[in-house]
Amino acid sequence: MPTVLIAGASRGIGLELARQYAADGWHVIGTRRNARGESALRSAGAEPRRLDVSDASQFEALAASLAGSSLDLFIHSAGIYGPDTSGLAQPDEQAFEEIMRVNVLAAMCSMSSIGPLVARAGGRMVYLSSSMGSIAQMNGTYGWLYRTSKAALNAALKCTAGELGRRGVTCLALHPGWVRTDMGGPNASIDVVTSVTGMRRVIAAARKKDNGRFLDYTGAEIPW
Ligand SMILES: NC(=O)c1ccc[n+]([C@@H]2O[C@H](COP(=O)([O-])OP(=O)(O)OC[C@H]3O[C@@H](n4cnc5c(N)ncnc54)[C@H](OP(=O)(O)O)[C@@H]3O)[C@@H](O)[C@H]2O)c1
Repeated sequence: MPTVLIAGASRGIGLELARQYAADGWHVIGTRRNARGESALRSAGAEPRRLDVSDASQFEALAASLAGSSLDLFIHSAGIYGPDTSGLAQPDEQAFEEIMRVNVLAAMCSMSSIGPLVARAGGRMVYLSSSMGSIAQMNGTYGWLYRTSKAALNAALKCTAGELGRRGVTCLALHPGWVRTDMGGPNASIDVVTSVTGMRRVIAAARKKDNGRFLDYTGAEIPW
């Protein structure tokens, strides 16, 4: 039975990933940081673990608790949008610190602590990025903190793909589409089932030659 670890699986896209992989017969370890996430994960058929991704030491503890296991797949879904800003509003320092900690530092910590467990299985490391983090497609300042954090995540992923690729891991940055979740809001273009079904297909089709690519949930390439 293949094993997937999903960081940030208490709700939204992460929870639907947990539900679909569990329904497909995978051993699913899903992380959450509060009690509500615990029951949602159990109902989805996943094994809940506690993880606040904003605390770097918790990734090391999680990896230590999994020492001896190998992971076929790791998916980093945890993320925040931060404040809605427009124009060149000076970023609030506390908001900057929080979004960089959750969207970038946490991802980098997972690359170093969880990467070796995935390398053991020659598995896949998947990071939920966003087309808003594509520098090539940036055309405005709205959400500039979020955009900047996802561009930084993409840079970290690209560096890691080189390193972990030599150890047999396939790393992907995935854009899930504009999805109706708490983050995406009710007017988003697709539902969470469509997004996750598509991403699972893209992940399953990924081969070593795809290491370091930036794709959307349909498999279309997104320019960095
Ligand atoms: N929805 C979209 O349209 C869209 C588009 C592009 C990219 N994305 C990306 O897709 C990913 C998932 O988005 P979503 O729509 O599912 O968002 P969501 O519904 O807002 O869910 C966010 C998830 O991240 C977790 N999280 C946030 N901060 C955390 C922390 N410090 N420690 C642990 N978990 C934390 C939340 O846990 P709690 O329940 O504990 O808060 C929750 O499980 C994000 O990385 C997002 O940037 C989403």
